[in-house]
Amino acid sequence: MIVVTGATGNVGRTLVRTLAEAGERVTAVSRRIAGPDVPEGVRHVRADLARPESLKPAFDGASALFLLTSGDFTAGGGSATVLRDVLDLARAGGVGRVVLLSSQGVGTGRHKPDLEEAVTGADLEWTVLRPGGFASNSYAWAATIREQRLAAAPFADVALPVIDPDDIAEVAAAALREAGHGGRTYALTGPAAVTPRQQVAAIGDALGEPVRFVELSRAEARAAMTGFMPEVIADATLDILGEPTAEEQRVSPDVERVLGRPAGSFADWAARNAAAFE
Ligand SMILES: NC(=O)c1ccc[n+]([C@@H]2O[C@H](COP(=O)([O-])OP(=O)(O)OC[C@H]3O[C@@H](n4cnc5c(N)ncnc54)[C@H](OP(=O)(O)O)[C@@H]3O)[C@@H](O)[C@H]2O)c1
Repeated sequence: MIVVTGATGNVGRTLVRTLAEAGERVTAVSRRIAGPDVPEGVRHVRADLARPESLKPAFDGASALFLLTSGDFTAGGGSATVLRDVLDLARAGGVGRVVLLSSQGVGTGRHKPDLEEAVTGADLEWTVLRPGGFASNSYAWAATIREQRLAAAPFADVALPVIDPDDIAEVAAAALREAGHGGRTYALTGPAAVTPRQQVAAIGDALGEPVRFVELSRAEARAAMTGFMPEVIADATLDILGEPTAEEQRVSPDVERVLGRPAGSFADWAARNAAAFE
């Protein structure tokens, strides 16, 4: 049985479906998960990663674990120490393999490595996934695109190889189910760097209607972002969006290496998710 944390998120929701369709027994976990969130036949357990003991019922009889540590985890008291407790309980429940959804920022030195180190230092077979920015971050434009056919963003012409979260889920499914991924760290990106202006144009193409792009200054974007995220995270995000390093702009071959097919493009993601912008 495979335990999927973050099971209602961008990656976890697809991962649960992919594993269930492949015939795996799955336990889907999040703090607020409910029956309608999971496909028929999939077990769901409400638990909080920041309170390790709440995960015990999920781990009972499990063989593998997909682990996600969201911003809510650290904000809710989560830390590397708490994560080690989670992993100890997982091992006690039978888990032998863990796949961590980490971030490109750990490899580039923008994020602390302590959560990754809790996983790679545990007595478990591990795989670390380090994605760059998600295509689904463009849901931030959904309300203004729906209401005014308009999207506003800074750094209109700075390109990054954003990744389709469904590709992250497919790589995670492979690492959870197949041998040969233990001890590997995968850098996950899309197939090409794409600018915010190009992303908005692709959403317009998916809708069959033009979407107007308005470029924000860094200060305007910061003011909007600090309304719903800590200042330090807004600044770090703006640094990546505005002045990415060569490594952050580089397309990684790892999705294709693991899946045997190229990563999906932003345009493909927009076409599949056009309903969110209609
Ligand atoms: N977005 C990006 O550009 C980007 C780039 C690199 C890495 N990442 C990493 O990707 C992860 C986010 O993945 P995502 O977009 O698939 O997730 P998401 O859509 O943000 O959803 C978060 C999921 O985690 C659950 N969750 C949050 N806090 C929890 C807790 N304390 N205990 C148990 N479950 C909890 C949420 O459900 P409940 O609310 O019901 O608990 C939900 O299922 C983060 O770790 C982030 O650092 C993101």
